[in-house]
Amino acid sequence: MTRLVVCVLILAVSLAQGRHEKYEGHQLFRVAITSEELGKLEAHLDILSATPATRSASGKIEALVRLSPAEKQQWLPYFNQRNMAYTKIIDNLADILRDEEAKVQRARSAASRSSRFSFEVYHRHQEINDYLDSLAKRYPNLVTVINAALSFEGRQIKYVRISTSRFENLRKPVIIIDAAAHAREWVTPPVALYIINQLVVDIVDSNLLEYIDWIIIPVVNPDGYEYSFDEDRMWRKTRSKAHPGSDECPGVDVNRNFDHHWGTRPDSANPCAIVFEGPRPFSEAETRVVRDAVLQHVDRTALYISIHSYGNMFLYAWGNNGTLPDNGLILNLVGVHMAEAIDKLALDKAKRYVVGNAAHVLAKTSGTSRDWTRAVGIPLTYTLELPGYEYGFLVPPEYVWQIVTETWAGIAAGANYVLYNW
Ligand SMILES: *[C@@H]1O[C@H](CO)[C@@H](O)[C@H](O)[C@H]1NC(C)=O
Repeated sequence: MTRLVVCVLILAVSLAQGRHEKYEGHQLFRVAITSEELGKLEAHLDILSATPATRSASGKIEALVRLSPAEKQQWLPYFNQRNMAYTKIIDNLADILRDEEAKVQRARSAASRSSRFSFEVYHRHQEINDYLDSLAKRYPNLVTVINAALSFEGRQIKYVRISTSRFENLRKPVIIIDAAAHAREWVTPPVALYIINQLVVDIVDSNLLEYIDWIIIPVVNPDGYEYSFDEDRMWRKTRSKAHPGSDECPGVDVNRNFDHHWGTRPDSANPCAIVFEGPRPFSEAETRVVRDAVLQHVDRTALYISIHSYGNMFLYAWGNNGTLPDNGLILNLVGVHMAEAIDKLALDKAKRYVVGNAAHVLAKTSGTSRDWTRAVGIPLTYTLELPGYEYGFLVPPEYVWQIVTETWAGIAAGANYVLYNW
């Protein structure tokens, strides 16, 4: 009996090690580059995030790039030739991932002793779905769970509609928020769930509940999300295998799969790129869930925010060419408003938020949800990049509470703007 337990333990430990083995010897480099180079690198390498040029000491965009030992051989000479300054930030990614996993496990076992839903741990997709269903049961007059569609691998993509008037009062503005379109950005679903909590459980500002209808999609991409727990912590895309090249490189970047200037960027055309746009616009069930939720009430949707991690930014249209929509000044104003509300509560070590046009702050993109939602007529649409501090996507659970609470302040500021200006 004890021998069996020991065997099972050894097996569990070796499985856990195996999960991160593929990143043994992978290193992270900060590389100073131009906007065009950022686009090019994304076609070939894993770019974890990019720091706006306005915020970096080099005066250039600084991309955090993951290089395998083989990629290092190929790309460091490339950076040298082009005078792209780089610094090594992480020596062995596998070690960092093992540390993170241990922290995540510890937070889970601490939280499992309490019966309340915790905002200090990373929940699995099924737990999040169960939580949404439990809220609908507890608050039947406020919360409706929509079983929107199945993911490629058959997981139920759920979202909630929050309304005091069953979405029947057509004078109310609608706010739509989504999270975890990118699998590895674990800190984003807790932010979406905390927004729901502030609206219907704690009702911290009853006006926001009473006079606005909300649609909140906590996990857009459950297949990728689960895969990032079980197999590959750095996974970003969906897990679909329906396109040419998907045997070798499954998955599509949900945030390049929307029908806005889709197919116009060569870096997004490669199925192996982290920013692969898919075989056609809306090829992914996951993208279609967002599309259909948005189109239902598009005439009265005032604000759309897609929550991502990381980099402390509010980015607005047009990402495809860097020009501004006709309400560019308002987009900037409301973005700054939300950013200021967050910055007031931020940790000292956090970078202040940057608010700006996506193509200017970082690089040109095609097929993003932010641009598509603006193009179909929602006046205020943003990509929100949460803080990663020194951890990137691997935000330790003890920071989740900080991030959910400060981000709620930003969302509330945006919602209040909508309330008084709709
Ligand atoms: C930039 O893209 C937007 C959105 O598609 C479009 O409306 C605008 O005309 C474009 N501007 C230029 C100068 O190409």
